Amino acid sequence: MISEEDVNKRIAEMGAQISEDYAGKEIHLIAILKGSVFFACELAKRITIPVTIDFMSVSSYGNSRESSGIVKIAKDLDEPILDKEVLVVEDIIDSGKTLNHLKPMLESRNPASLHLCTLLSKPDRREVEVPVRYIGFEVPDEFVVGYGLDYAQKYRNLPYIGVAEEE
Ligand code: PRP
Ligand code: MN
Ligand code: MG
Repeated sequence: MISEEDVNKRIAEMGAQISEDYAGKEIHLIAILKGSVFFACELAKRITIPVTIDFMSVSSYGNSRESSGIVKIAKDLDEPILDKEVLVVEDIIDSGKTLNHLKPMLESRNPASLHLCTLLSKPDRREVEVPVRYIGFEVPDEFVVGYGLDYAQKYRNLPYIGVAEEE
């Protein structure tokens, strides 16, 4: 669906935009395991202001193709986010349930600011509205894999965005 070249080009643009928007500040990336890890690493390399990174595990899909609606926190952050400029990094926003659940929870820890960044967004699938500051690509409602996105835990390592066909 999106070539390796196009994905990397877009991530470089996003990194430049973030560096400009947060100029003079430090940014604290929170990558949501596991899907966002590949994107978060590539994005971090394209940000030219000081970057710190932490990880949180919030899973709602498990191994099925559909969201269960149950958001499970398996691993919390290692560091406090008090007074930090926080950017939550996701690989995809689908129903919006994961970030809708996570955002108020993180805001209650009083960061200096908190914004959301996602490589992909599927607007047709949105069930709850979440304000997203940075979106890499809007994609149609197909089961996308690669660049961190899995189907039953596989295909995360593809360096491009592809579509998993129904068997
Ligand atoms: C996927 C994706 C997002 C979330 C988006 O994660 O990486 O975190 O679902 O869906 P939503 O907007 O409907 O909440 P998943 O739960 O599959 O875990 P994973 O990142 O480990 O694959
Ligand atoms: Mn995820
Ligand atoms: Mg998944």
